[in-house]
Order: sequence, then structure tokens, then C-alpha cells
Amino acid sequence: MSDHNILVVEKDNVLRCFLVDSLERDGFKVSGVMDGEEALSIISSKNIDVLITNLEIPKIDGMSLLTNAKEKNKNIIVFMTAKNGSVDIAVNAMKLGVEEFLTNPVMPEKLIEKIKLSIKKKQQKPFKAEQTTISLKIRENIIGDSKEIKDIFELIGKVADTDSTVLIYGESGTGKELIAKAIHYSSYRKDRPFIPVNCGAIPEELLESELFGHEKGSFTGAHKARTGRFELADTGTVFLDEIGDMSPKLQVKILRVLQEQELERVGGVRPVKVDIRIIAATHRDLEKAVANSKFREDLYYRLNVIPVTLPALRARPTDIPLLVRHFINIFNIQKSRNIQGVTKEALECLKAYSWPGNIRELQNIVERMIVLKMDGIIDVEDLPDKILSGRLERDSKEIKLPADGASFNTMVTNFEKQLIQQALTKSSGVKNKAAKLLNMNRTTLVEKIKKLNL
Ligand SMILES: Nc1ncnc2c1ncn2[C@@H]1O[C@H](COP(=O)(O)OP(=O)(O)OP(=O)(O)O)[C@@H](O)[C@H]1O
Ligand SMILES: [Mg+2]
Repeated sequence: MSDHNILVVEKDNVLRCFLVDSLERDGFKVSGVMDGEEALSIISSKNIDVLITNLEIPKIDGMSLLTNAKEKNKNIIVFMTAKNGSVDIAVNAMKLGVEEFLTNPVMPEKLIEKIKLSIKKKQQKPFKAEQTTISLKIRENIIGDSKEIKDIFELIGKVADTDSTVLIYGESGTGKELIAKAIHYSSYRKDRPFIPVNCGAIPEELLESELFGHEKGSFTGAHKARTGRFELADTGTVFLDEIGDMSPKLQVKILRVLQEQELERVGGVRPVKVDIRIIAATHRDLEKAVANSKFREDLYYRLNVIPVTLPALRARPTDIPLLVRHFINIFNIQKSRNIQGVTKEALECLKAYSWPGNIRELQNIVERMIVLKMDGIIDVEDLPDKILSGRLERDSKEIKLPADGASFNTMVTNFEKQLIQQALTKSSGVKNKAAKLLNMNRTTLVEKIKKLNL
């Protein structure tokens, strides 16, 4: 470590000397200055590996020093200190590339440990002048050409190699896991493990040992020691899915891993150091959960360093044709079918549907249609009823009598069915509301639902 140069910027003489001394005693080459201008001139004239700066320093403030230092030396590791920095400032600083935001008084031993870990990580990571671009193979699996999805690609490229914690928001089926993998496989950790953990699916009493492992005999049934998923993921990425469902007790433990990069096995006596990147996902409104004291605020801010919000499919209908094509190709092979495509009219219906289950729902519907149809082109009559009700909205103005005639009763029944289904969808199944939408009383609606077998 001794060949690493550290620069300490702190206007408080006692604090500065104390830090400089402690770091020197540990073998680092250390310079200490009082203000931002002096700091910048040192950074311009010699190679500084680690910058430790207070947020409030004379002449140039800590944030500007940070940006300037990063501009001059992309590889510089920056720790920022403050008397009582607000969470907003901390998040901002981390977005600008600060390794860690610490509140004074800083414990030198802790800081030295963190510095050593950061240097080690930097050495493992090949320096790249350009931001990472997502590899072609990953890009091929994420379908979409809309502005919404292109923005996501750009963001992935920017964050992949940073080690920053990413929190992915999105309705169910929007591709949260797919994007988490894209980030991992575009990062320098790509040859290391990607370990997903579904925090909602594992019973609470098992989750702790699942995540952190346990020592032999630590509880009844613990016949052998077990390595937890965080340890298995060392130097890789842990994907914490449905983080909003995690119990308060485990939230504390996760916070510790994030803050200290260390964990304790169940029944363990000594902490274990780990180097992991965390990507979390949730379909819940975590900010609301924080307001309702269901989710720890400190953990929320630790996780929410880089928020990524995945758009609902209904918000990007122009991607639907591409996705349909993609899934047809996949299922033609998987199910040995020869479906050539989708008619324009059927595609319009697919685009008009609201997709509450997003891409997963689209994928399932394409799979079902392909299984049921051997070959040819998917047309309107191949679509499930729930999708057809979306078409009604546009077609209800003008009903065309087919050239070869039609059964009046069937057409009217169909029309009724679709109208009612649509009203029920719009009112999320609340019959009172649906009846209001159709301007009919509730009893009539209930009778019709029964008669039409809905
Ligand atoms: N842009 C996309 N292009 C192609 N396939 C996609 C895309 N987004 C999602 N998928 C596919 O849709 C399915 C659902 O994606 P994923 O499991 O990542 O979503 P999720 O948000 O984690 O869903 P859930 O909330 O249900 O866990 C997967 O099979 C995934 O491969
Ligand atoms: Mg998922």
C-alpha cells in the first residue's frame, strides 16, 4: 500500500493532522492541505490515488473539488467527510463518484480499512477510459427500440462498472431481473457469480441462514456449516429481488453488509469480509413504505443510489411488435411451430391492450397462441378475449355486417360481452363502478354477467 498517494483536505488543523498522522503510520504517502485550491493544484501536478476531503472547505467547496478531481483523474478514489451531511448530499456525492460519504469524527482505523478495500477493488478492475457499453449479446436479449428502453440502455452502460448499488423499480413482468443481469454481465464482475435471492419467497426464519450462512450446530437442525449466498457471491453481484418484502431484522443485516462489506454467519463469532455489488428490485413504492415505517430509511437511501425505473409495457406500445416478433421466433423453435407473424389488425389489438402483467404476460400470450395454432399468421380470432375487449373501444362506433351475413344474436351477445368485460376491467372488477360506466343498474349487470357466463 505504501506506494499509494493520499491527499487530505480539511480546514480543521487538529482533524487534518490526526488523519495525516494515522495514515502515515499505516505506511501511506500523505499530504494534507487546508483548502480546495491548494488541493487542486496538487492533484494537477502529481498522481493522487486517494482524496479525502471535507464537504466544507475554503475556496472551492468539496463537491466542486470532487468533480474537478474526477475530471483530472478518472481513477481517483474519493472519500467525503462532513460534520452532519444530509442524506440528499450523500446520495448526490455518491452519484458523482464518491466511494463513501462519512460523518465526522471519522475513525482512522475504519477509514484505512475502507481505503485498502477500495484500492484492492480498483486494482482488480481494468481501467477503461470510455463508459461500458452493454455487450451485443446482452443487448440482443433485451428487445425494444422506444425512447424509454433506450434510456435504460444508456443508464445501464453508465452504471454497470461503478459498483454503485442499483435499485430497480417496475411493475410485475417489466424485466427487472433481466436488467439486473444486464448490469452484472456488463460490469467487470461478469466472470464472477450473479446470485439472485427472492426476499419475498423464502420464509423469514430461513432467509437469514440462506443469505449469511450458518455455523455447524448454531440451531436445531444445523448439522453442517453452510455458506450463505452473500459469501458465495463474493467479488460478484447479489440480486435482492422483492426487497420491499424483507423483514426489519434482516434489513438491519443487509444495511451492515452495504456499509461495512462484512457479515456474520448465524452462530458465527467473527465477521466475514465480502466484496459484493448489490442490485435490488421491487414493485413496491419504497418511499411510501419508509413513510409508513415498514422499511428502514437508512437502508432505503443506501439502496437508492442509482434508481432505475422500468416503464410499463403500456407506456411503450411501439415496442410491442418487436417483442411479439421476438417471442414468435423463440416459441416457433421451442414448440416446433411455423407461425409466420401477426396480421395488422391483431397487432393493433395487442397494442391497444393495457398489459397489467407487462412483458411476462405478452410472452405467455404469444406462447399460448403458438401452442394452439400450428402455422400461418396469427389473426384477431386467435387472440384471447381480454385482448379483444381493447379493440372494442375503437370498433364500437361502427359495426360492419360481414359480406356473407351474420347471426344477429351472436353479434349482439358478443358486443354485450365485450362491453361488460371492458367495463369490469376498467373498474378492476368492482361491479358498482362497472354498472355506472355502462349507465345501467347493478342488478341488470349482475344478471347479464350470469347469463353471458362471464
Ligand atoms: N425488454 C425485453 N425483451 C425481451 N424479453 C423481456 C424484456 N423484458 C422482460 N423480458 C422477459 O419477460 C419475462 C419477465 O421478465 P423478468 O422476470 O425480468 O421481470 P420481473 O420484472 O422480474 O418480473 P416479476 O415482477 O414478475 O418478477 C422474462 O422472461 C424476460 O426474459
Ligand atoms: Mg422478478
